Amino acid sequence: MRYLEIAGKRPLCGELTIQGSKNAALPVLTACLLGDGPCVIENCPQIQDVEDTLAILGMLGCKTSRAGHTVSVDASEAEHFAIFGAEAQRIRSSVLFLGALLGRMGKAALPYPGGCAIGSRPIDLHLKALEELGVRFSDENAPEGCGAGIYASVFHLKGACIRLPQPSVGATENTILAAVLAEGETVIENAALEPETEELCRFLSLRGADIRRECGGRIRISGKRTLKPVRYRLTADRIVAGSYLLAGAACGGEIHFCNLPAGQLLALLEILSRMGVAVGEDGTMRAQGNLLAAGNVVTAPYPGFPTDLQSPLMAALCFAQGESRICETMFENRFRTAAELRKMGAEILTEGSCARIQGTKALHGADVRAPDLRGGAALVAAALAAAGRTRIQGYNYIARGYEDICRDFQSLGADIRLADCRDEKVW
Ligand code: EPZ
Repeated sequence: MRYLEIAGKRPLCGELTIQGSKNAALPVLTACLLGDGPCVIENCPQIQDVEDTLAILGMLGCKTSRAGHTVSVDASEAEHFAIFGAEAQRIRSSVLFLGALLGRMGKAALPYPGGCAIGSRPIDLHLKALEELGVRFSDENAPEGCGAGIYASVFHLKGACIRLPQPSVGATENTILAAVLAEGETVIENAALEPETEELCRFLSLRGADIRRECGGRIRISGKRTLKPVRYRLTADRIVAGSYLLAGAACGGEIHFCNLPAGQLLALLEILSRMGVAVGEDGTMRAQGNLLAAGNVVTAPYPGFPTDLQSPLMAALCFAQGESRICETMFENRFRTAAELRKMGAEILTEGSCARIQGTKALHGADVRAPDLRGGAALVAAALAAAGRTRIQGYNYIARGYEDICRDFQSLGADIRLADCRDEKVW
């Protein structure tokens, strides 16, 4: 079992280039299914969720290859429509193959998706939106021996007007993937505004899809018959960048980000300025180590404060002077990192969907366990700033979204290493 070992209380100084965006890579790679010929995706992060997505594309008959951060996907011979297997059950974004498979071949069979246990993670909005496009869900055409899952078919995808009750990222992306090859016009009202969804639209437009983002969260799509293969470069991962900014805030120091997606992080930058942390136009973060409390923070759909940075922010606020309050409005089980931070001496009181953090400088190393992907990054930030040695189990969660968190923080002067222990010792 692999775990991280960190000796904390060192400032972080140096230069960093942020990896390509996980939550853009996953829908873009899935969209390679729509149309024939080799799509080349550059700046594609080397993370487990991407490897799982490539494995699923391979199961469907696509030819995939990787050379460093450049991935090629050729769907010309993709003819299967069932994706049962460990990979599809491990990641949340496997559900996006629903829209892509229906768009390409009019049928799909897949298990219920996986993903971090941060809430119940229903997919009702995905299914309702696809039904509006003419999709039918029934077990009767389930392939032999596939077990419980989602079985969908459509004779003819027809455009429709779809209003999402909430701006779900996944439901927006699934609807887009099904609509780009549907007959006629599809309008999605109350669509997600996240940059990753924008990136999917940009990629599909480059391939020849007719997608227009209009005011007030409306996306208008006119279905096409085919899409052409293209080369596309993914943008930097705003959540990885935000996680590292918050680690730097907690530790103090000076970090120059070569490709900081600052325009996608305005809500975080506003909170960091409340905490006394400056981030210059040139992408350089300077933190003196005497953090101020952040007052009230509420997570919200983009451009609000991102739920994915809620636990890294909680970790940083443990080192701030005074009391801060975070309310999590997006997922109902995303405070599990608090219990691990308390093992390090943090003073955090969770009440329903809100957490009060009483900052203290006296966090100390401990043996902790990552509860999920972003909780793992939060524990790394806390361990880097705390006095003493910390061991973090659950590296497999962190590796789902962070290409090489050890490499990145070692380049900033941190004492962090990835260790391996044979016995499944649980601490
Ligand atoms: C995407 O998840 C991201 N994952 C998540 O990042 C991110 O936290 C989330 O969007 C919100 O920004 C990927 O892009 C792979 P949602 P998704 O549908 O699409 C409810 C990370 O750490 N909902 O916008 O699953 C849902 O329960 C991950 O990288 C329904 O009720 O998020 C939640 O409360 C974690 N029914 C809210 O909507 C549905 O059918 C937002 O979920 C779908 C969602």
